[in-house]
Amino acid sequence: LLAKGKRKSKFFRMSSGKSHVGRKDDPVMQYLLNHSLREHPALKKLRQKTMEHKLSMIMVACEQSQFMANLASLIKVKKAIEIGVYTGYNALSIALTLPADGKLIACDVSEEYINIGRPFWRLVRATHERFNYVPIYNFIIIMKCIFTVNVLWSGRVVNPEEGDIDSISIDKLNKKLHRDVRIQLSMLTVGDGLTLAFKI
Ligand SMILES: C[S@@+](CC[C@H](N)C(=O)[O-])C[C@H]1O[C@@H](n2cnc3c(N)ncnc32)[C@H](O)[C@@H]1O
Repeated sequence: LLAKGKRKSKFFRMSSGKSHVGRKDDPVMQYLLNHSLREHPALKKLRQKTMEHKLSMIMVACEQSQFMANLASLIKVKKAIEIGVYTGYNALSIALTLPADGKLIACDVSEEYINIGRPFWRLVRATHERFNYVPIYNFIIIMKCIFTVNVLWSGRVVNPEEGDIDSISIDKLNKKLHRDVRIQLSMLTVGDGLTLAFKI
């Protein structure tokens, strides 16, 4: 457990981080990518295109996305919902694991971001619904398996500052998940934190 005020310590920077931001120059991360990443050519092109965007740091980490897609494949997911698409890297990654009769619904509030990715992910349908993290949780709990990304929020979930709405609401969701006896969960340090929650 970390004391208040240690948010920017070296520990925080090392405990999580995406391969394209935070851990970009980390040789261990390079090793991990070189020895495990199996990126579909369409995903690679989409990632490269996304890296040109000013907000590329918000893209899912490719290693994290592959982990989610592998788990989806392992449990033979047929229907999935992606909330917060950005340019669609993770949506496409999951879509590629679905069977021919599978279905993915992807939602984002930004037409601009979707338009960057659209040429690369014609497989995915997007809707434009507005949601908040906690209310949608009550809906998606009916799903068998939920991935929540960025749950560590670069360490800012530890003692979130007053007025830092994002950190406070992610912390609130993390606590809610932890308390929820209906699910089993693991919080992983892959990417900027990934929670896997599922029902047996
Ligand atoms: C961290 S990015 C998502 C990264 C994405 N999953 C990927 O594969 O790269 C967060 C996205 O959520 C979207 N977003 C923010 N608030 C939202 C909301 N209330 N409903 C749907 N999308 C939202 C943002 O526009 C942004 O594209």
